[in-house]
Amino acid sequence: MAVPGDKSIGHRAVIFTSIAHGRSRIWNLSGGEDNLRTVQAFKDLGVKMSQEGEALCVEGKGWDGLCPPGKVIDCGNSGTTMRLLSGVLAGRPFVTTLDGDASLRQRPMQRVIDPLARMGAQVLSRNGKGLAPLEIRGGNLRGIHYILPIASAQVKSAIVLAGLQAEGVTVVEEPQKSRDHTEIMAQAFGVKLKVESERSVVVEGGQRLSARDVRVPGDLSSAAFFLVAAAAILGSDLVIRGVGCNPTRSGVIDVLRRMGAGIEMTRQREEAGEPVADLRIIGKKLRGVEIGPEMVARTIDEYPVLSVAAALAEGVTTICGAKELRFKESDRIAAMTRELRSLGVQAEEREDGMKIEGRSRLQGARLSSYGDHRVAMALAVAGLSSEGGVEIDDSACVDISFPGFFDLLEGVSAS
Ligand code: S3P
Repeated sequence: MAVPGDKSIGHRAVIFTSIAHGRSRIWNLSGGEDNLRTVQAFKDLGVKMSQEGEALCVEGKGWDGLCPPGKVIDCGNSGTTMRLLSGVLAGRPFVTTLDGDASLRQRPMQRVIDPLARMGAQVLSRNGKGLAPLEIRGGNLRGIHYILPIASAQVKSAIVLAGLQAEGVTVVEEPQKSRDHTEIMAQAFGVKLKVESERSVVVEGGQRLSARDVRVPGDLSSAAFFLVAAAAILGSDLVIRGVGCNPTRSGVIDVLRRMGAGIEMTRQREEAGEPVADLRIIGKKLRGVEIGPEMVARTIDEYPVLSVAAALAEGVTTICGAKELRFKESDRIAAMTRELRSLGVQAEEREDGMKIEGRSRLQGARLSSYGDHRVAMALAVAGLSSEGGVEIDDSACVDISFPGFFDLLEGVSAS
């Protein structure tokens, strides 16, 4: 089986092809709503795009090819669209408003507003509280040296995108290395950029980007639902082809292996500078583990499904240092604790994580996704190991990152 294109890399592919000079093609863009928001945003900014067979064809005209959109840009549920676009627009000489759905309107944006303001952009937020809608008055930017208080690829990327338009050098330092897709893709488009001592990125403004084709690898965060489903069910043997295995994202593989899962990486290769492999998973009895703060950056989106793995493992699993989970598409600590309890699991909510006691079989239940795609998919995986199955409210939200998820899960579990 295969999973849709990587959501994070897909956003960046649309952004970089749009700000480059020339015609690029993107293959394997996910078709998920979040990626489509970024596509629509750049169309709103005047970038010409067309479908050519399987590829999205983008006619980039450089930074100056972006025009005032003449309407509010709707980022939907997509934090990556809003934050990365803020970095792009901070350097454009016009005013743009970015808005989103009820979930995105609750998510913290001050973390991008602060550095972009220091670079010289004016960003207004709802009631000055750092919440969307954001009004971005872009203009001349200057490079800054910024130390991120919390590791975040979205904030780092926003600063790098603004830094590419700024006068002088921009340096972004992180407490922990977050996913580096922006750094990899920027270089693939001809940007000169330095990564120093693993956790800081140095980029000079005023660089010209050249068009190139991009093939987006399969999304490890989407594959994670199938990794856990197969790992937790004895007798499973599943191969997922063409999955992005960037080490800044692969914490889920390390954690599952520590839990006792059999995961093999084969046909390792590189696509657009990103490591890609086929993954083979054999179902084994899992055991509880400690998932400490050092895992957060590399595992950030996989905690909902890892909490399901923990619920099916022998013994206790603890997650700590992961308070950021409270600021995702939903409060994922609260959501998963509540829903695991409905499945009969002893789960304890902690400020920065959870404690979960595994059991061999879960109860069937009616569950809520809280409108969060990753919560919905994690609960569906739990449903496979429950007595009588689960019913998940608002399950259509899986389309945010993984259209066709339920059919694929049904097909794979039946076989
Ligand atoms: C993303 C970075 C992560 C992740 C999100 C996508 C990205 O967020 O949770 O789903 O594409 O840069 P943070 O960088 O805010 O941790």
